[in-house]
Amino acid sequence: MTIQRIASKWEKTKVIRQKESLRPYIPDTRKYSFEHLRDMLVAYGYVFVKPDHGTYGIGVMSIELWTDDLNPDSPLQYKLRHGIEYELYPTVEELHAALIAKIGPKPYLIQKGIHLLTYRRRRFDIRALVQLTPRKTWETTGFIGRIAAQQKVITNYHGGGSVMLIEDLLSSYLTPKEFTEKYKEMKSVGVQAAVQLSRKFPKLKEIGLDIAIDEQHQIWILEVNTKPALFPFKLLHPKEVYQKIRRYAVAYGRLKDKSAKAK
Ligand SMILES: Nc1ncnc2c1ncn2[C@@H]1O[C@H](COP(=O)(O)OP(=O)(O)O)[C@@H](O)[C@H]1O
Ligand SMILES: [Mg+2]
Repeated sequence: MTIQRIASKWEKTKVIRQKESLRPYIPDTRKYSFEHLRDMLVAYGYVFVKPDHGTYGIGVMSIELWTDDLNPDSPLQYKLRHGIEYELYPTVEELHAALIAKIGPKPYLIQKGIHLLTYRRRRFDIRALVQLTPRKTWETTGFIGRIAAQQKVITNYHGGGSVMLIEDLLSSYLTPKEFTEKYKEMKSVGVQAAVQLSRKFPKLKEIGLDIAIDEQHQIWILEVNTKPALFPFKLLHPKEVYQKIRRYAVAYGRLKDKSAKAK
């Protein structure tokens, strides 16, 4: 059984954007160019630049407007962050030149930056796992909160991030009732994204959505992964959660059925 994987973030964004009900959840995303960099910095003041075919947060950078708080006369600058480092550039032209030197010939995207909520001053976002059920319907089977390492803009586990239950991360921001509503909304967005992508890519069996929650508590789809990690759901949840994830993954051929007798 083949499981469809799509590497290009641009291709996946184009497909999910076609669905009217998903559009409000997708931050403005464009192919990287000087014009888009300039225009999006004016429009949003905070942008992400990332490889179209990236994973694990590798090559993901953010740019924000920056002024020296201690010196009110200091000019506005652009702060480019990558890893735990940052550089300041006085003009968009210089920023672009520095980005081009880092990017090289690879296709990159530029996306509106979402101001993530924080936990102990570290940014966090949410991974939602959506799977094809044995009855061939789509179901959001799990969520996990991902917290960036200190001073990093990426929350990826492979980029030094850690994981927590979303209930614990969101309890200081949302009332139980609000949490239940967000939870339902995220589950529904996950299923809608899977349904929409599988119209174009019929062999899709599972997706992982990177979901951001901003300071207004609005949810955003940062990216869709077609080879989502399953192991994070083993770590913190009651074991029933991973049992179901595993059962579905066995049914569509991602995992082997360990209980099956060797022949
Ligand atoms: N537009 C954005 N706004 C805020 N944070 C972002 C944005 N895009 C990416 N990030 C952060 O960087 C991480 C990695 O970016 P992502 O697009 O998921 O690429 P990758 O495929 O490498 O995981 C995200 O999980 C998130 O923490
Ligand atoms: Mg990601």
